[in-house]
Amino acid sequence: MAVPKTVLWDRDPHTAAKHNLLRKYLEPWAPILLSRHATITYAEGFSGPGVYSQGEPGSPVVALEAFAKALQHRSGRIRMVLVEGDERRESELRSQLDKAREHHSADVSRRLRVNTHYGECHPTLLEQLRLQGSLGKPLFVLLDSYGGPDIPFSLLQELGKHRSTEVMVTFQPAFLTRFGEANENHRRAGTPPSEAPSGTQCSISRRTRSSLSSATSTGRAFVEPASPTLFFEMVDEETMSST
Ligand SMILES: C[S@@+](CC[C@H](N)C(=O)[O-])C[C@H]1O[C@@H](n2cnc3c(N)ncnc32)[C@H](O)[C@@H]1O
Repeated sequence: MAVPKTVLWDRDPHTAAKHNLLRKYLEPWAPILLSRHATITYAEGFSGPGVYSQGEPGSPVVALEAFAKALQHRSGRIRMVLVEGDERRESELRSQLDKAREHHSADVSRRLRVNTHYGECHPTLLEQLRLQGSLGKPLFVLLDSYGGPDIPFSLLQELGKHRSTEVMVTFQPAFLTRFGEANENHRRAGTPPSEAPSGTQCSISRRTRSSLSSATSTGRAFVEPASPTLFFEMVDEETMSST
């Protein structure tokens, strides 16, 4: 689905599932990180207006609620750095976040600093994160351009330099299908390591490797034990379940 031209749009079921996932991740993420660090940062490069047409919260508000909950039980501070490329949506986002903050205590609001910025995700996001001194410190970045532009690789490269940074990127599954169909090398990247071309690499931690073991055993991913290389295979779920 392409993002419409209007300021708000209907929330589709995929978006509801994405928010659910985000909430489930951030609710434990914030208290765990706050138990070890005085300040942690959450950032979005494609923030949206903070609300959907039927009043459902957008991802920045979902995150804010998870953080307010964490700050009730933990000391420390949480910074939110939110970039939105449409001026009307950025203005709506600011008012949605102000409204959401009103429901929380003065102490929680004081320790939950929210900055919204109207601008292009890249380079605005990195500029703001640098200004705030957030790079290289505990940082979670949501890059949700779903239905919009591609995520600049240079942005991911820059964020990926810091071990303390986590990034969640959303994309439309149809893109992967087209990507695989269009280029023989890309399609071959979905084959086992012995046959895959070089260049299809990404670093993964030992913990991630072990959590991938179930995917590996069902044939959905291949992890080469001796190198930090992860190969994904596109599978047709329906075909797999009927075989
Ligand atoms: C999929 S929506 C974000 C939805 C939001 N993350 C949520 O879940 O509620 C993508 C947003 O990115 C904005 N956008 C598109 N291109 C952009 C760019 N280059 N830089 C910053 N924002 C952009 C759009 O205006 C739109 O509001």
